[in-house]
Amino acid sequence: MSSAVVDTADLQTFIRAQTLLAPVPFVPEVQLYQAAEAIGLWERTEQAKGEIGLPPPFWGFAWAGGQALARYVLDHPELVAGRQVLDLAAGSGLVAVAAALRGAAGVTAAEIDAYAVAAIQINAEANGVAVDARCENLLDGDGAPADVVLAGDVFYERAMAERVLPFLTRAAARGAVVLVGDPGRAYLPRAAFGSVAVYQVPTAADLEDRPVKTTTVWRLGS
Ligand SMILES: C[S@@+](CC[C@H](N)C(=O)[O-])C[C@H]1O[C@@H](n2cnc3c(N)ncnc32)[C@H](O)[C@@H]1O
Repeated sequence: MSSAVVDTADLQTFIRAQTLLAPVPFVPEVQLYQAAEAIGLWERTEQAKGEIGLPPPFWGFAWAGGQALARYVLDHPELVAGRQVLDLAAGSGLVAVAAALRGAAGVTAAEIDAYAVAAIQINAEANGVAVDARCENLLDGDGAPADVVLAGDVFYERAMAERVLPFLTRAAARGAVVLVGDPGRAYLPRAAFGSVAVYQVPTAADLEDRPVKTTTVWRLGS
């Protein structure tokens, strides 16, 4: 078994070794360290850490919801320019990078997976932007001080979805603009949102049931 991965620099070295830096299919303005397939990467991540039961390597992929949201941000820079932006459950940091590229005053990317935080850091660096990547669960709060709260592909699991909607609702109630990107995940609380854009988003080979997913950018609150 490989020696245990212990700090952020090790995680970044591991991610660079397991991925390729390449443009995101639906968002070619952004380059990310992306994996070719999920299961083998998951196994290698567990071997490197010397643990089993790690979360899937979400950070190695640009999920359909994140791709749609990043596309929307890049095409509507007025949404984020000069504002404080939070990318919740950022994964690779794709949406955070898009916001930084379009002139956000500050971008925070929140994750609970240390590998994702390491990936966000090297992905931001690869795109020449600054993103504050934090390993922190923010779901008990309201996202302050972010003016804009963005969340790509967060409604794939019931327990998480049940915490994300109240979080987003609190953020909207204090005046934040709240947008999510979602390709029709099972736990999307559809009635809480209004559609602002719909895209046909190419997906990574072994992640989804279809090579292209109809993916919506939804807005919550006023
Ligand atoms: C399907 S991925 C989406 C990643 C990215 N937003 C995208 O669209 O490409 C979901 C991400 O949510 C993260 N996550 C799960 N619970 C979280 C929480 N409470 N706070 C922050 N991130 C969380 C996971 O670690 C994972 O990286």
